[in-house]
Amino acid sequence: MYILVNGEYKKRDEVAIDLEDRGHQFGDGVYEVIRVYDGAFFAMKEHMERFIRSAEEIKIDLPYTIGELTGQLEELLRLNKTEDGGIYMQVTRGAAARKHLFPGKDTRPELTAYPIPCSKPAKEQEVGISLSLLEDVRWLRCDIKSLNLLGNVLAKQEAHDRGAYEALLHRSGMITEGSSSNFYGVKNGSVFTHPANNLILNGVTRMKVEELCRQNGIEFLEERLSTEGLVSLDEAFITSTTSEVIPVIKVDEGKIGEGIPGPVTRKLQKLFDELIA
Ligand code: PDD
Repeated sequence: MYILVNGEYKKRDEVAIDLEDRGHQFGDGVYEVIRVYDGAFFAMKEHMERFIRSAEEIKIDLPYTIGELTGQLEELLRLNKTEDGGIYMQVTRGAAARKHLFPGKDTRPELTAYPIPCSKPAKEQEVGISLSLLEDVRWLRCDIKSLNLLGNVLAKQEAHDRGAYEALLHRSGMITEGSSSNFYGVKNGSVFTHPANNLILNGVTRMKVEELCRQNGIEFLEERLSTEGLVSLDEAFITSTTSEVIPVIKVDEGKIGEGIPGPVTRKLQKLFDELIA
């Protein structure tokens, strides 16, 4: 496997991360997961724009333009002969003596990327999944795709331990998103999801689903849902780069709608499949 390390392509065993890399010690960096279908990146522009924005928000100066970085990732795909899968990319503030303050300008950001296995979660997409409702204890800048994922990791594990596929996070009874996905409710044919503000990650799949709704006459409303309102939903689903569109049929012990994937979700799954075909 070839790994992109600061513009160079190295073998896995040639890559060494410094002990004092700030990503390693502080989670001081940002990342992206990009899906590859049939040897091509999906929604590359949106992922790149979000990556640049995340880096800017935490004041990391990326040493490459979007064009340069896209070229490097395309070369990475070619070298690894990746056809169906994904790329994980991250940038950290670099390696320097461990101090909270940013290091000086001579410290160079550390940018790495490598292929990851990704396949369609076909069974979950077909039958639907259950979620477990948990308090969202993350920080207040969830719009930044930060390497600090402790809140997400703990929620995902807790949900898993309770037998659910994913966590459904809420702040004081208002639903935000999943631990690694966006959440949507469907009521009377309209799709409801949390506004893309500081409390959620503005998912690239979410942007695509919004576009699909608008193009196909499905009302897409950025309105918060409450945990109490879950019982009155007709349907629900989650989205992410790796999940695509997965129906939600249960939240803890409560059924969503009739407890089976609903027609609006099915329609969006079909439209999304056409988009990536
Ligand atoms: N997670 N919300 C959170 C908290 C996420 O971590 C993700 C993605 C999403 C969906 O974003 P997108 O549609 O751009 O993948 C929403 C990635 C896949 C991960 O951490 O592996």
